Amino acid sequence: MSSARTGVLRRYADFLPLTPDTPRIDLGEGSTPLVRSRHIGPALGVPNLYFKLESCNPTGSFKDRGMVVAVAKALEEGNRAVLCASTGNTSASAAAYAAHCGLRAYVFLPRGRIAPGKLAQSIVYGARIVAIDGNFDDCLRLAREYCERHPVALVNSVNPNRIAGQKTAAFEVVDDLGDAPDFLFIPVGNAGNITAYWAGFQEYAERGLASRRPRMMGFQAAGAAPIVLGHPVDDPQTIASAIRIGNPASWRKAVAARDESDGVIDSVTDAEILAAYERLAQEEGIFCEPASAASLAGFLKRATGAGGLSGATSVCVITGNGLKDPDRAMAVSRRQLDVPASLAAIEAALEAESDSSPV
Ligand code: F0G
Repeated sequence: MSSARTGVLRRYADFLPLTPDTPRIDLGEGSTPLVRSRHIGPALGVPNLYFKLESCNPTGSFKDRGMVVAVAKALEEGNRAVLCASTGNTSASAAAYAAHCGLRAYVFLPRGRIAPGKLAQSIVYGARIVAIDGNFDDCLRLAREYCERHPVALVNSVNPNRIAGQKTAAFEVVDDLGDAPDFLFIPVGNAGNITAYWAGFQEYAERGLASRRPRMMGFQAAGAAPIVLGHPVDDPQTIASAIRIGNPASWRKAVAARDESDGVIDSVTDAEILAAYERLAQEEGIFCEPASAASLAGFLKRATGAGGLSGATSVCVITGNGLKDPDRAMAVSRRQLDVPASLAAIEAALEAESDSSPV
């Protein structure tokens, strides 16, 4: 493994389904920071809480790790176009990597349910956007049917190359910590990412690169929690639009990851997600999108519940960047002092609020 800054295909070539003919494309994905909590963990008596900042990938989400592999393999196989259904991040990533490689990208999106930053990405990267009057589950079903009839590579996480690329995030966690953590907290939507992390942790352990495997702690939004409920949800609802999914494609594999790792798949409410979203920004300086905060919301639920997590090493996966969902950010209540352009007015306004004064 090279220490030089390279994308996923070069850094983890030995672990990926590459051939000499696979184009080694690279937008700088992977090698994302693992940041230790300075406030949230210590306040709960958990010194070893870390955040894996997948929001630092080129399109601002973890999807880029799997997409670079899926698009490279699509190119190798001679495809001229890729297609995905998406709640916004997969489409942004597919559009970017397709543009990078001169492929066409088709994205099937649930109309009116995509965070504006994500839609902006697909527009500017030049994808052909198909806005479908339905939810994500409808989009994925139609995407699969479309790809059966047309020469287009499906790059959703049902494509095993996506999972192969995404598992490299687990490798990085082990590489950075020196071993697997005790717990891995992760949002669950279509359930590809929890599947990929578990595959990565298992592979590292099998190759002797980790001495143990973490317990996989997956969290769905309460209004979109089919795995927790044990049945599909017809009309999933949550403010975390990225994980508004009622019938995850990798359902069975997520359950296997949970059971094989002695983990859990639980739900967190929108209120818990939003509280975690604000705490992460205001107490750690990490701005994520709401779906990503489900991992911290899950950690907080466990850390404050019976048993606690104090002696353990926990990693929360921060799957996407907060800038993708500016509407949600602007809905956070804030105090703003409106003042004329005068130093005296600024001083008077700040001094009137003792806790705003710098001294
Ligand atoms: N977090 C973010 C920011 C996501 O965009 C997604 C999924 C997840 C978590 C859940 O990951 O689906 O592998 O369980 N987004 C997909 C998309 C569905 O289309 O962008 P998962």
